Amino acid sequence: MGKFSGFYRLSPEERLRLVKQERSLTGDETKVLTDSGALEMGKADRAIENVIGAVHLPLGIATNFVINGKETLVPMAVEEPSVVAAASRAAKQTLPDGFKAEADESIMIGQVQITGIEDINTSLKNLEVNKKEVLNKASEYMKHVEQYGCGARDFGAKAVQTDRGAMIIVNFHINVGNAQGANMVNTTLEGVSPILEQLTEGKAKLRIVSNLASERKAKASAVWKKELVGKAAIEGVLDAHEFAKRDIYRCSTHNKGIMNGIDAVAVATGNDWRSVEAGAHTFAAMGRYQPLTHYYKNENGDLVGEIELPLAVATVGPAISSSPTAGTSLKIMDVGSSQELAMVMASVGLANNFAALSALGTVGIQKGHMKLHARNIAAYAGARTNQEIDRVAEILTEEKNFNVERAKEVLERVREE
Ligand code: HMG
Repeated sequence: MGKFSGFYRLSPEERLRLVKQERSLTGDETKVLTDSGALEMGKADRAIENVIGAVHLPLGIATNFVINGKETLVPMAVEEPSVVAAASRAAKQTLPDGFKAEADESIMIGQVQITGIEDINTSLKNLEVNKKEVLNKASEYMKHVEQYGCGARDFGAKAVQTDRGAMIIVNFHINVGNAQGANMVNTTLEGVSPILEQLTEGKAKLRIVSNLASERKAKASAVWKKELVGKAAIEGVLDAHEFAKRDIYRCSTHNKGIMNGIDAVAVATGNDWRSVEAGAHTFAAMGRYQPLTHYYKNENGDLVGEIELPLAVATVGPAISSSPTAGTSLKIMDVGSSQELAMVMASVGLANNFAALSALGTVGIQKGHMKLHARNIAAYAGARTNQEIDRVAEILTEEKNFNVERAKEVLERVREE
């Protein structure tokens, strides 16, 4: 491994040359990495470490979304067939009313862990009595963003007994505006720690944002009318929802289907989808791990769907500006704030969940999914033109046979047609 010591000091081109040599990559295999399109190597090399290239994901537009009365085009970056189509179809079935959505203020929770405390009660009391001084100190680190409404709003402190003795955890509530907020929060926590140490006579250890942004949630709801989607779909969704409420194995996949849509928008807009995922699943696990969506029939027998989850997402910040596609995706979506983006994401998550449950609860997921995946299989079997791909996919779907070998036989027949 000595060859790779100091790898980071090389240029992207030199790194790729070394990897190519070490792994006997062909010209084509390296070209796919360096054919980086909009993300030129210099920009990529400033974004993360040890860069040798860039990867690409398809970017689709989910259509038919009306959110709080506003027609919205939704960019989704995802590798899985049928996710974009499913969101679009589910959204179409909510029209003309569409989705109603709302989002909290951008309050992030920042945590400071304090250890080595002699007198827990006195330390807690000192923190409470000096709250104003602590918050003023914290705000010194956010002066540059006060104009955007950012700032340390409050904090709470609690004692926790651990295997390593008593600790105090101080949870700050910090408004981070349209940023995701992790950097802003972590800088503020590190700056305010000395005063916390003085007041508790303890030692500040971890100073870090929490990804369980439970004060920064988004909600969305929609009604799927029985005349439009049919009784079978409504009953199927309600049965699927009950299954997920009672069975954690099903609930995991239920929530994955929601995050199919939410993550796709997060990736398209250059957001940290790992923090979005962490927040969503820990929120779902508060108490007992439960579905992030809920469904019930209204007085007309129509299906009402609701979603609520933490969504700490940004429309400004270094990660957004370093992504070549984020700005364009946000412009396509025509969102002007973190809250608006969160409302779109919540609506998409609900739409994808409804689409999956209504398909699962009636005709099964493969009918729709494989109809779209068949085009991938046709291309994988060697179909080149769109006409060949569509014709082979059509025959595979009719036969309900999505085997690649069968696709190759069908392709030969199509070429003879
Ligand atoms: P369909 O009935 O063939 O669609 O559904 P349609 O022809 O009636 O068209 C209705 C609308 O769907 C269209 O309206 C489009 O918006 C959209 P229009 O624009 O024409 O006015 N649509 C498409 N959009 C883009 N490309 C297409 C396309 N076709 C229709 N090719 C569909 C086809 C796949 C949408 C449907 O069968 C469906 O929604 N199936 C569910 C598939 C699904 O949910 N896939 C998600 C990935 S799998 C997943 O979520 C994981 C899972 O494990 C989660 C869980 O377990 O809960 C399942």
